[in-house]
Amino acid sequence: MPAKILSGREISAEIKDELRARVARLKDQGVTPGLAMVRVGEDPASVSYMRQKEKTSAEVGVFSQTFVLPEQASQGELLQKIDALNRDDSFHGILVQLPLPRHIDPRAVIEAIDPLKDVDCFHPINVGKLLIGEPYLLPCTPHGVWQILLRSGYSPEGKHVVICGRSNLNGKPLFAILIQKKSGANATVTVCHTRTPNLADFTRRADILVAAMGVPRAITADMVREGAVVIDVGVNRVEDPSKKSGFRLVGDTDFDALVEVAEAITPVPGGVGPMTVTMLMWNTVVACETQTGLSGN
Ligand SMILES: NC(=O)c1ccc[n+]([C@@H]2O[C@H](COP(=O)([O-])OP(=O)(O)OC[C@H]3O[C@@H](n4cnc5c(N)ncnc54)[C@H](OP(=O)(O)O)[C@@H]3O)[C@@H](O)[C@H]2O)c1
Repeated sequence: MPAKILSGREISAEIKDELRARVARLKDQGVTPGLAMVRVGEDPASVSYMRQKEKTSAEVGVFSQTFVLPEQASQGELLQKIDALNRDDSFHGILVQLPLPRHIDPRAVIEAIDPLKDVDCFHPINVGKLLIGEPYLLPCTPHGVWQILLRSGYSPEGKHVVICGRSNLNGKPLFAILIQKKSGANATVTVCHTRTPNLADFTRRADILVAAMGVPRAITADMVREGAVVIDVGVNRVEDPSKKSGFRLVGDTDFDALVEVAEAITPVPGGVGPMTVTMLMWNTVVACETQTGLSGN
């Protein structure tokens, strides 16, 4: 039987409904969750990602404002802007769109954000809290992966999860979420990377396989155990002359082949992708509730 398709679009719509209700209850108490987004320069991909974040903010009722600094703005100018936003009560969340121009150190920028307003969950304090099992917020894409699993009836509890990729953005925080001694987590987690010998020996042992490598269709059908649940985080552009744009998006898994082997799988696009921005809204609402002491539940 072909795999069940796990639609991130549908799950994300369900979560947005919940958030809309929570935001409405916060508004009834006189507070609107606010998200400040800062970009340096006009990188087209960043402009497009930020538009998506503005649109989703509007959908759930979060007040968002985008601040754009010129490409040649200094690190000091960016830090000054962050400092002003840290002190501005109308914003409960702050994000700085990455990548930044080369002359700016992203670490210094991330560390300048008030950890309470760090809705991307990149600040070392928040990363540390996550690792010791006392998270404040969860990083957006790994949290999206977890929500897809939980809301589709594939709890990682007691399962062997194999994650391909150990980036600070995806693999490592997903490991930190799933390894916790906590209901809905409690997984046995293996993390693989480019120095893992014989990757397939590991992937074939996964009950839940997460591909976050950034390599188009790297996970082939022979690398997956029959009945496994596959989550594809990858978003890769491959040439496609049949498309007007000349390219299309594919994941890190050979979706068409895996559909015949897996129990369930996320598509690309329409899988993990739509979850990421939704989880950013989740964090903005939690940050607002934490900073105001109000509850939208
Ligand atoms: N859906 C979303 O919302 C979303 C969000 C963020 C990213 N993404 C996508 O997710 C993918 C990964 O992003 P990222 O930022 O985590 O990438 P990254 O920083 O480049 O990290 C890739 C990881 O995969 C590992 N890797 C690469 N090739 C491998 C191979 N052949 N075998 C085993 N491991 C391999 C690398 O190992 P080493 O550490 O040894 O180099 C590294 O740990 C990209 O396609 C990106 O576009 C999607």
